Amino acid sequence: MREFRLSTVVRLGPQALAALDRFAGESVFLVTDEFLKTTPVYQRVLERCGGRVTVFTGVHPNPGTKEIGLGVAEYLKATPKVVVAYGGGSVMDAAKVMHKAALDAGLAAPEGIVAIPTTSGPGSEVTSFAVVTDERTHVKVPIASPDLVARLAILDPNAVVGAPAHITADSGMDVLTHAVEAYVARDACDFSDALAEKAVELVFAHLHRCFTHGDDLDARSHMHNASCMAAMAFDNVGLGITHSLAHALGGHFPVAHGRLNAILLPHVIEFNAARCPAANDRYARLGRLLSPGASDKAAVLNLAAACRRLAKRVGIPPRLAEANIDASELRAAIPELAAAALADGCTPPNPVQVTAADLAGLLKAAA
Ligand SMILES: [Fe+2]
Repeated sequence: MREFRLSTVVRLGPQALAALDRFAGESVFLVTDEFLKTTPVYQRVLERCGGRVTVFTGVHPNPGTKEIGLGVAEYLKATPKVVVAYGGGSVMDAAKVMHKAALDAGLAAPEGIVAIPTTSGPGSEVTSFAVVTDERTHVKVPIASPDLVARLAILDPNAVVGAPAHITADSGMDVLTHAVEAYVARDACDFSDALAEKAVELVFAHLHRCFTHGDDLDARSHMHNASCMAAMAFDNVGLGITHSLAHALGGHFPVAHGRLNAILLPHVIEFNAARCPAANDRYARLGRLLSPGASDKAAVLNLAAACRRLAKRVGIPPRLAEANIDASELRAAIPELAAAALADGCTPPNPVQVTAADLAGLLKAAA
């Protein structure tokens, strides 16, 4: 028996913050960061929540156990009715982990988590995952639990209009990678396919516009929806080795996750398609969304080429060496990176069972 779980209510569109009105006057624990606190949408969130809001702004990129511990202490002191996470993946993940800690202590907010994403990328507003960095070892620890799922996601495009172009580009290519990897994942099913196909279509139609005209609310809405839909798909069926390799590289070199995915994705498409007829068929189907009527071979080639073209149009270079990764440092690190990618939780859902040598070959191809 298979299960496909969609447990988050999604409110979307430029008026979606009105969904917060039901908490007006209740005790609210609002998690965000220092920069987002200066944005106009933050003020609107605060006004909607009413007068009993405890704000925690101590979240930084790649949140660590220490800052999350501080947040948990504030959370427990506030005894909130609801937790509101207003931010990108780091803020949402931190709020989710704080809430889980409160749940484990039997002191959680009864209305759960409301997630308001400020980037179209990680999709943490609907996933059952969070990543916490152990400050002592610098190791990123993924946590998976149904307790980490937000009860309500508010997809207001106004929350993303201020995102800088390079972040729009990187996180948008992350969305594309989520959708493509979920589409060929071993456990892909009709439900994940529908979400992934639509997400791919939306990214190709709207990412470039978001990159060049960040204030286009219509394009921003579609990318925000694509991010959420791709996350619904991968939360249920998993990802693949593009993510495994990006996780390994990201632990070693300070390059944005989405940028690494954008560089690696076409190589992984070509690798998987060449070794697995079922994956080839799946990529061909996705490719035909972009080039209707193409043969299987042409559709797969077109899909990889279209991913490369889109990355280039949003300012992402085609090679790791052009993304601030020193070529000799990368060469030296390849065995370690390949081993880390092999052990990554995203490797088992990949349609091709890989070896460390395969993963090392992909890193060399993308270098
Ligand atoms: Fe990702």
